Amino acid sequence: MTYIPEDILQSIREAADIRQVVQEFVPLKKRGKNWVGLCPFHSDNDPSFTVNEEKQIFYCFGCGEGGNVFKFLMKIQGLSFKGAAKALAQRYGITIPERPLSEKAKKKKRLREQLIDITQAASTYFSRLLKESVSAQKARHYLEKRSLKDETVESFDLGWAEESWDGLIRFLEKEGMDLGLAEEAGLIIKRTNAPGWYDRFRGRIMFPIRDHVGNIVAFGGRTIGLAGQEEQPKYINSPESPIYHKGKILYGLFQNKAAIRKAGLGLVVEGYMDVVSLWQHGIRQAVASLGTALTEEQARRMRGVTKEWVLLFDGDEAGLKAATRALPICYKVDLRPKVLVLPQGEDPDSLVRERGRAELEKLLKSAVSGIDFLIEAGKTHFGTDTEGVLKTIDTALEAISMVGDSVRKSLLVGNIARKLGVREESLWQSLKERSQKDRRLKRPSPASNTAQGASSLSRPVARIGNRAEEKVIGFLLSYPQYIERFMNLSLEIWLEDSTLCGLWDAMTHIHEMTGGLNLTELYNNLEHAPLLRTVAMRLASDFPPCNDVEIMVKDLEHYCQGRKKQALRKQLLQQLRDQGDSEDCESLLKGLLSLR
Ligand code: GTP
Ligand code: MN
Repeated sequence: MTYIPEDILQSIREAADIRQVVQEFVPLKKRGKNWVGLCPFHSDNDPSFTVNEEKQIFYCFGCGEGGNVFKFLMKIQGLSFKGAAKALAQRYGITIPERPLSEKAKKKKRLREQLIDITQAASTYFSRLLKESVSAQKARHYLEKRSLKDETVESFDLGWAEESWDGLIRFLEKEGMDLGLAEEAGLIIKRTNAPGWYDRFRGRIMFPIRDHVGNIVAFGGRTIGLAGQEEQPKYINSPESPIYHKGKILYGLFQNKAAIRKAGLGLVVEGYMDVVSLWQHGIRQAVASLGTALTEEQARRMRGVTKEWVLLFDGDEAGLKAATRALPICYKVDLRPKVLVLPQGEDPDSLVRERGRAELEKLLKSAVSGIDFLIEAGKTHFGTDTEGVLKTIDTALEAISMVGDSVRKSLLVGNIARKLGVREESLWQSLKERSQKDRRLKRPSPASNTAQGASSLSRPVARIGNRAEEKVIGFLLSYPQYIERFMNLSLEIWLEDSTLCGLWDAMTHIHEMTGGLNLTELYNNLEHAPLLRTVAMRLASDFPPCNDVEIMVKDLEHYCQGRKKQALRKQLLQQLRDQGDSEDCESLLKGLLSLR
């Protein structure tokens, strides 16, 4: 049994978008807040199947089936909960430990738990100091000066690390905690020329950093301008540790997730203070990537909450650079990024304090799409001569080259073409060259090819386009004894889905060789076509048992008959068009009539 840890499940829940997953099986249309389509779980003529993105659930008003994205996949693919979780994890690039927890994995898990415990203990200590200690007077004064209210301090568990070298160490010792672990958690640092440790954070306001399930896993600590601190960095952060990978965490996401989801809009800001200060002003929608460039993992976490994000940047060179780096990542994970360049010298914190919430919200409305931003910034930065425009095009295409949704991509390309006065065709050409270059750079290894072969969701090719066709093949794989009755229905000329067509070929081949369809035979035969093999197995296992096989066969025969006629008619019409004046015309017409 594979063990899927809760935090992985949580990541999957956050990363998976139910509409996206459902749409691979059921075409959906937007209706009001929901998306609707024909229910795949009962025979439905009037769309009664709804998907609610905000709540991340589906519900069918016809048959009452409903649930979250796991439930949907379990139902539609006949998967177990774990199977569904695995398929989703693979699709969203989340790694699940493959085997039952080995001794080593158990140790690692235990270590994580211990590190989280000790970090939590440190946070409690820092918070208590900030509230109660006499030595924190200066810190409380500082926070007052920055107009942070008690409620805000509490909500973000802000704390105070004393100026001493061993305040935390003494506390942890008193609590009977293992200082080696505290070191591993990045809280204390080993002395180089004497035994023992010293506190990493001294004389700093502490900002606990929570991971996506709410564990405190690290801290940022800010100086408050004490004597002797002038030379020190304004902020120091916990180092990477087994519980803290800064590229995977966004400050404020845990606290603000619900509000962001509700508003359908998130904000990316630069600093701790920005997140906290916006929160205090009622804008509980900000996250910060903490002094590093936005990573793909962070962007995926963001997408798990909503697709709409505004990136707030300074108007300076650094801000422009940061935006230019962040946008391709946003587009790659299918976010719809906008950019708001802040007035000179302001950050979100100063802005909201000086001008208030309404003013900031007004500014947010003026945020431009990521592409428009890149175009405008490019014009200013690179100039509008040929070379400049080429550079701008390059950054814009870089940003959208990863967009997966073809309709969206077309719209974006059209937008760039219009705004920069270039032809769309040449942009497409350029995108193509780009992707060829990319492909040459990272040719996939054969090993990774086969590893992916098992997933039904992550590979477009395993995603089968035509449900009815899928049903026919799925039925025949579940009830192979009926293949005889389908042999003269010419599936090979009308199956539109190439995977299914390939399967049908293999099935008829076995039938011709052996006079029947034996699945083991078929799977052996497909040994060298792992994709077809996987699809075959999936279709066979997905097909629900029929109550009345005879009725099912008749239905499917009828459907195939129709498709065959339609295909033949098309062929004849084509011939007729090709040789309109030959004497075969009459017989062709006769043939056509017989197919009506
Ligand atoms: P305040 O100055 O308190 O308003 O904080 P801020 O968040 O506005 O700081 P700033 O805009 O200068 O920096 C944005 C973010 O970059 C901070 O929140 C930190 O995460 C990071 N950062 C800033 N200065 C330092 C530093 O000296 N060292 C490190 N490691 N990170 C820093
Ligand atoms: Mn600031």
